[in-house]
Amino acid sequence: MTDAVKVGFVPFSTTPRGVLVVFTDETMRFGTATRKILGAAADTVKRAATASAFKGKNATALDILAPAGLKVGRLIVVGTGKAGSLKEEDYIKIGGAAVGRLKASTDAVTLIAELPAGALKPDQVSAIAAGIRLRAYKFDRYKTRKKDEDKKLAAQISIAVADVAAARKAFAPSNNVVDGVLLARELVNEPPNVLYPAEFARRAAQLRRLGVKVEILDVKAMEKLGMGALLGVSQGSYHDGRMVVMRWNGASNKTDKPIAFVGKGVCFDTGGISIKPAGSMEDMKGDMAGAACVVGLMHALAARKAKVNAVGAIGLVENMPDGNAQRPGDIVTSMSGQTIEIINTDAEGRLVLADVLWYVAQKYKPKFIVDLATLTGAIMVALGTEYAGLFSNNDELSERLTKAGRATGEHVWRMPLGPEYDKQIDSKFADMKNAAGRWGGSITAAQLLQRFVDNTPWAHLDIAGTGMGAPSSDINTSWGSGYGVRLLDQLVADHYEAKR
Ligand code: BES
Ligand code: MN
Ligand code: ZN
Repeated sequence: MTDAVKVGFVPFSTTPRGVLVVFTDETMRFGTATRKILGAAADTVKRAATASAFKGKNATALDILAPAGLKVGRLIVVGTGKAGSLKEEDYIKIGGAAVGRLKASTDAVTLIAELPAGALKPDQVSAIAAGIRLRAYKFDRYKTRKKDEDKKLAAQISIAVADVAAARKAFAPSNNVVDGVLLARELVNEPPNVLYPAEFARRAAQLRRLGVKVEILDVKAMEKLGMGALLGVSQGSYHDGRMVVMRWNGASNKTDKPIAFVGKGVCFDTGGISIKPAGSMEDMKGDMAGAACVVGLMHALAARKAKVNAVGAIGLVENMPDGNAQRPGDIVTSMSGQTIEIINTDAEGRLVLADVLWYVAQKYKPKFIVDLATLTGAIMVALGTEYAGLFSNNDELSERLTKAGRATGEHVWRMPLGPEYDKQIDSKFADMKNAAGRWGGSITAAQLLQRFVDNTPWAHLDIAGTGMGAPSSDINTSWGSGYGVRLLDQLVADHYEAKR
């Protein structure tokens, strides 16, 4: 991974270097270890706080340069508000916000993991460390001339803790999950001339290093399977499509039914013959964010050796206009045998997913399938960029996803499905059509997907608003967000793993 921040844990007794970050809350007091480190500088802090009306409120900070009485060059006092009500998600944000205040030229940072009430617990320390790495990520591979503010933060960040061994142990798995998030972001951010289906497949194949079994199906293999829906999308592109199946068998019983994740991997979506307008078309390089999330998640699960059997499957294509491109009016036969009339070649994601979902449902008979897709612009109209749309045939799975969303801050909001919507996708000529009217565009898309999962418990996440292009947050300033990796890792950890 390309981030240049190194996070390590040291005991409270270590002499701080570079920038010192300490925490307080609305009581404006400090913990014992922090008081010891601040020593005589406590008075400097007091005067600075009064002068700038700093009251320890959450997400505020007091910034003191060359603080008298301390050897460090800068002291940042971070407020946490009512410290007692902080959740894990908040600690991730606190870590991210702290990094947000640093300059690219910073070389060393010491952060004291203590609140007035006492040392932070290993899980809280781990969340801060994760937030630091998530915030520090920057995609700048293609910038050959860097101004100072473009430079990436390259710092050694030492988190001072009460129990170094416990902090390391708690952070080890979340560090792997962060790697998965950064991998997903990297894939989403890559330009489409670099990351076409075959190259995407090669990157996914690197998961083999972690013990993931990776199978790459080319066009011939998919023709043999009868994947006419996916192949119809792909047929107008110079770059051939691929399907990649990744398997991680971490359960003690290797024959346990797996859980499954499916991702839309449209490496570039021009709309095809129903071509998109030019404005912001460049954003359609991110139309593979669902697939990127699945790869990032498989990385996370394998790297932290999750005790679960999991399948990740992604459909990789480009949607291009061409003499051989599919036309509105074409009728394709999916692997399931169901036929689909193409009304709009820009409604391509559901065609790709139809075949991958069917393949996974039939071949692996999984406990559930969760698919992720930048499927519809309509979901951004409905939910904006903070919540992903959740569509499901299963209440239990929906509730678990909603809970995991709250725990990680990667929120989902359930939307309806139902036979009432079927008439909108009925076709005059085929079993269904790929585009319905304007109303309920995200629902009719999900309604079509549902026809390809049989009776498998299934949830579909429409991540068109959350996967890319969302405004910067405390823990992400890059265009690609890596949305979904932490959400689904949490789902797996909470419900589908044998306890360690
Ligand atoms: N990839 C787009 C959806 C999208 C739009 C994702 C904006 C992220 C940002 C998808 O393939 C698409 O074009 N959907 C159409 C469907 C319509 C033609 C039925 C849409 O949403 O307009
Ligand atoms: Mn499209
Ligand atoms: Zn698309």
